Amino acid sequence: MSAQQRLSNIQQHIENSAAASIFSDVPQAPPDAIFKLTAAYKADTYDKKVNLGVGAYRDDDGKPWVLPSVKMAKRALLENEDIDHEYLGITGLNEFTSSAAKLILGSSSEAISEKRVSSVQTISGTGANHLGAVFLNKFYPFDKAGGQRQIYISNPTWANHKAIFNSVGIKPVDYPWYDAKTVGLDFEGLTKTLKEAPKQSVFLLHACAHNPTGVDPTKEQWKQIADLFEQQGHYAFFDCAYQGFASGNLDEDAYSVRLFIERRTIPVLVCQSFAKNAGLYGERIGALHIVSTTPERAAAVTSQLSVIQRSEISNPPAFGARIVTMILNEPKLWDQWQKDVTTMADRIISMRKSLHSLLVEKYKTPAPGGNWDHILKQIGMFTFLGLNEKQCALIVNEGHIYMTSNSRISMAGLTTKNVEYVASWIDKAARS
Ligand SMILES: Cc1ncc(COP(=O)(O)O)c(C=O)c1O
Repeated sequence: MSAQQRLSNIQQHIENSAAASIFSDVPQAPPDAIFKLTAAYKADTYDKKVNLGVGAYRDDDGKPWVLPSVKMAKRALLENEDIDHEYLGITGLNEFTSSAAKLILGSSSEAISEKRVSSVQTISGTGANHLGAVFLNKFYPFDKAGGQRQIYISNPTWANHKAIFNSVGIKPVDYPWYDAKTVGLDFEGLTKTLKEAPKQSVFLLHACAHNPTGVDPTKEQWKQIADLFEQQGHYAFFDCAYQGFASGNLDEDAYSVRLFIERRTIPVLVCQSFAKNAGLYGERIGALHIVSTTPERAAAVTSQLSVIQRSEISNPPAFGARIVTMILNEPKLWDQWQKDVTTMADRIISMRKSLHSLLVEKYKTPAPGGNWDHILKQIGMFTFLGLNEKQCALIVNEGHIYMTSNSRISMAGLTTKNVEYVASWIDKAARS
């Protein structure tokens, strides 16, 4: 038998086996839009190409930035011979979860001092959203909320929210957030939905620096939103991925979360990520905090979160937790971290000013909502330009500037060297 014949016999044998038919009906899934964009950017050889797709901070040379506070913590960890590589507990490193809770809820939080908070270390913000979703799916009284197993999410929102809730069997339902006419908040639409949704509905809120729109409520509007949550008995599922990134001030960016919790009568859950504000994207470090009305309920909630966590990841990774714990607890590192967060927020704010002035003063570019002030007003890492899909495609295909088709750009991808080039293409697109 020739080698060719033998190979053909083997192939025939495999084709006839049970193994061959097992995944034969699995359809090819589409690639993730953001990761696809990054791959296209990397493959592009054009020297002026710009990546405004991914939500990760870059310095003014367009390079990833390791925060000086993180460098200091890593150095200290390396020198500490007492650190071993044992498993953490199921809910993570206790020093990490307790200091992370203080960071988001406030150091004088009554919920913490009264032991009403269940805090669990998670696989970054995504893991916190997932664990929160699984917990709600198991224990939330959806029968009291109109009988529908659903969560209200802003339209638009971080694309993964839909996928996360769908994957656990909770249906995501849109509520209005973005008003294309004003390129701002659709406050009327939002409050109408809060009033009309069944009592005790679950609403997901971005704590600050809304992704993808950069549109946040004012403090006065947050108070009105909290009033409606109180009146309607809604559940607040806060996602906080950008604390410190919005204003450069960690306390200021926790305003909405603390406001709701201080009311005491609004049930609240908070997902917290250290990917962006500590630049620890790959370490996957975050936390889920669920606030209960009594310490006994909080203890029961923690026990159930442990049961879920055990079957999903057994226990979370240690490295990022140790870095963040040092930053949050050692005065020198803490001071440096405040500076680092301010450095990132300030660079983003200065890019907003540059882009705005180029479009308004240099190019006199026609604006979708009448003016370009939304570039200055929008908060955090992202700006929603307000351009249509065709205009975005022109910027990507002809300008080699990579951005999502909903006109979201990451301000962290702009630098003093590329902002003029980007402005010139926004100008071309807006006139097309
Ligand atoms: C709104 C929002 N939530 C959660 C996350 C989760 O990020 P990570 O899992 O990297 O912490 C992100 C990241 O882009 C986000 O924008």
